[in-house]
Amino acid sequence: MKNISFYKCLNCGNIIEVIDGDINNITCCSKPMEKLIANSVDASFEKHVPSYEKVEDEIVVKVGEVEHPMEKDHYIMWIALVSENRITKVKLYPEQATTTRFPYIPKSTIYAYCNKHGLWKKDVE
Ligand SMILES: [Fe+2]
Repeated sequence: MKNISFYKCLNCGNIIEVIDGDINNITCCSKPMEKLIANSVDASFEKHVPSYEKVEDEIVVKVGEVEHPMEKDHYIMWIALVSENRITKVKLYPEQATTTRFPYIPKSTIYAYCNKHGLWKKDVE
């Protein structure tokens, strides 16, 4: 699962995840989809890089050093934990906190998707 990639349709906004294989034959709105590149360094005021704290056998994940806004038109849509053999995704909604718990899986990767600022990631040690 570590080879997972995310693609977005620039026309309608659909997002897909490709677990394995190649995207060349996949289109949306009759057009190729754009690969989302996850950022891990955030220089802007609003922070997006996920952070985590290990608590026993779980990690508590938050998005942003200063918690990211969760407003109707600007929010974190989902957070995913991707490891060698598993993907766990949590859908979030405006007005909710970004705080999410996942099982602790060493060498996994946390992804967070902002509806305005795209895909972000943090590796779990
Ligand atoms: Fe954002």
